[in-house]
Parts: sequence; C-alpha cells; structure tokens
Amino acid sequence: MLEQMKILGIESSCDETAAAVVEDGTKLLSNVVASSINQHIEYGGVVPEIAARSHIEEINQVVNAALSEAKCDWENIDAIGVTYGPGLEGSLLVGVLTARTYALIKNKPLIPVNHVEAHIYASFLTSTNLDNYILSKQTPEFPLLALVVSGGHTQIVYFKDHSDYKVLGATTDDAVGEAYDKVAKILGLPYPGGPSMEKLAQKGESFSYKLPKPKTQNKYDFSYSGLKTAALRLAQKEIGEDYNYPSYKVAGRLSEAQKANIAACFNHTAIEILVDKLEQARNEYNPKCIVVAGGVSASRELRRQIHKRLGEDIAFPDIKLCTDNAAMIATNAFYLAKKNNAFVNPRVLETNPNLSM
Ligand code: KG4
Ligand code: ZN
Repeated sequence: MLEQMKILGIESSCDETAAAVVEDGTKLLSNVVASSINQHIEYGGVVPEIAARSHIEEINQVVNAALSEAKCDWENIDAIGVTYGPGLEGSLLVGVLTARTYALIKNKPLIPVNHVEAHIYASFLTSTNLDNYILSKQTPEFPLLALVVSGGHTQIVYFKDHSDYKVLGATTDDAVGEAYDKVAKILGLPYPGGPSMEKLAQKGESFSYKLPKPKTQNKYDFSYSGLKTAALRLAQKEIGEDYNYPSYKVAGRLSEAQKANIAACFNHTAIEILVDKLEQARNEYNPKCIVVAGGVSASRELRRQIHKRLGEDIAFPDIKLCTDNAAMIATNAFYLAKKNNAFVNPRVLETNPNLSM
C-alpha cells in the first residue's frame, strides 16, 4: 500500500455527473458535481436518456475540474474508483467507460464501487482544505449500524468491518425517497420531492392527521407504498372525493393549508418509521457507532428525530455529501483497495444496474 494514496472517484449512476479526489479515505481534496436535474423537472422525474446524454457532455470537464480543485494532475492519482451499479444503465455506462479509458491510458488501477455501500462512506471523511464543508470529527468505528435512505434504497445494515456486513432489512416496495417524490407529485410540488415536501411541511401541522405505520414480516424491513397511498386517500377525502378520483387532479383542488398539513404529517410519519426501526436495531445490536447515509439523510426532520431519540452524538454527513457525489466513491474505493481483489482489469469492467448490497 502506498502512503498518502490519492483516489479519483467517478460517479454517474443517476442524474449527477460527479468526480472527486480523496486522500487516504479521510481527506476531501475536491468534490465536483454537475447535476442535470433542471432538465428533468418538467417531466416530474429523471428521464434516463436525458441523464445519459448530459453525463456524456459533462464528464470530462467534471473530471478535469476535480483534478484541478484538488491541485493534482494525473501523476498524483494512485487509483480510480468508479460506481458500476446500481443505477440507470445508460448513466452508469458513461462513468464506467470513462473510468476504464482513463485507467488504461493513464495506467491506473481501477476499483469498482457499489453506489449504495458508498453512501455510507461519506461519513468517513474527516478533513478537507475546501471551504464550507462540515465533516465528521471522528472516523466511524466498527461494529457500525448504517441507515441508508435514498431515492432507490431504504435499508438498515450492520457492519462488522469494511466489506463485512449483513443487511438487516430493506424496503419491500417503494424506497423512502421515492415515496417523498410520489407524494410531492400528488401535492403538485416540484421534483425532487424530498426538499420541496420538507419546505412545505414547515408551514403545516404534523399531527393534524394520523397516517398509518405499516407492519412488515421482517421487523427491520420497510414498506412505503402503503404510506404513500394513505397520503393520497387522505388528500382525496379532504376534497370530498373517493379513491377513484385521479391522483393528478387532486393538487388543483387542495388548499395551501391542506397541502401543508398533508406534507407535514407525511414528513413526520415517514421519518418516524425510519427512526423506530433504527432504534430497535440499535438496542438489539449495540453498535459502536450509527451512520446515516443517502439523499434522505439531508432531511432536517430525520436529524431532529434521530438526535432526540438516539442521541446528539450521531453524526450526519455534510448536506453536499448526502446526495449523490463522487467523494463517497473515492472514499469507499480506498478501503476496498486495502483488501485483496479490489482491482479489476479495465478492459472487462461491466455496469450492473441491479447490483444490491
Ligand atoms: O441518494 P440520492 O441523491 O439519490 C439516490 O441514490 O437515489 O437520493 C435522492 C432522494 C430523492 O428521492 C429525494 O427526494 C430525497 O433523496 N431527498 C430528501 C431530502 N432531500 C433529498 N428526502 C427527504 N427530505 C429531504 N430533505
Ligand atoms: Zn445515491
């Protein structure tokens, strides 16, 4: 192993084209993210073709910007880490082919990284020269319990060590972020739904209605499709209609106050479900540390409820590292590089859109 290993991370699994340089899996040297989100807003969700095309247009500039922000050139880079799944196939392909090409022409080892696992590694960054980042004070210790909450995943994972983990539970239907996005659409709010729901929820009353918390067979599994439907039924009832009334017409008939109350109740309940299970897992597994990761970890309500119920010392990644980024990819790649068999032949790495943990 090299001293001071600098890894270039590349991420393109959804609508963010990202590159970053991380030293020794702890120091953030650069973090560049170009999002195509504005091109998807009018469609109410990410359009795969638009995302892939945007990655093609952006990726080389993003990689160059990450190197220059880190005050590096290719000679200083020891390895490349890249997301190879899960994600949108066309989007993943752009990042993987870019990483493979650079690995070949610049003669760098290549490390494939699982995007979901990588989200957890945002919490392993503890120092930076960059402005405006609030990082964890300490490297998380094992055994650790991770709550991964994003647009595609909702899971609780128990880590004995790096790469040595057990998924305790996962969503059986919609992911929590996906449920936010769908309920936001019903309420006529812009994509992505999480931030717009959270904003509207501030104006509402969290206990104005009672939304159900689903029971799951495995106590650590999640189910968000029922909560989403309950929010729709509530909205239909508020305007005096039954379940046959089309969901896309509901927003136009709800008052601002009704929308705010539904957003507040959904926000409160969706987060409470996460915290209930995390608390139960903490009590059963007694980890040294809890890490929260993924786009939904940007939620202020999640931070509030976790700090209240599980303790103030639980660290959250900086908001810029909660949503998709390549710093988490480079960080995860560093810990993988310390293990055997982390490197792959750049001529053969394939994408895996359905990769799971
Ligand atoms: O991790 P991420 O950037 O992309 C995926 O890998 O899915 O997560 C995006 C998800 C979206 O569903 C978005 O609505 C949700 O994270 N999200 C939030 C908040 N900010 C982003 N959900 C709830 N509250 C938020 N503040
Ligand atoms: Zn993600």
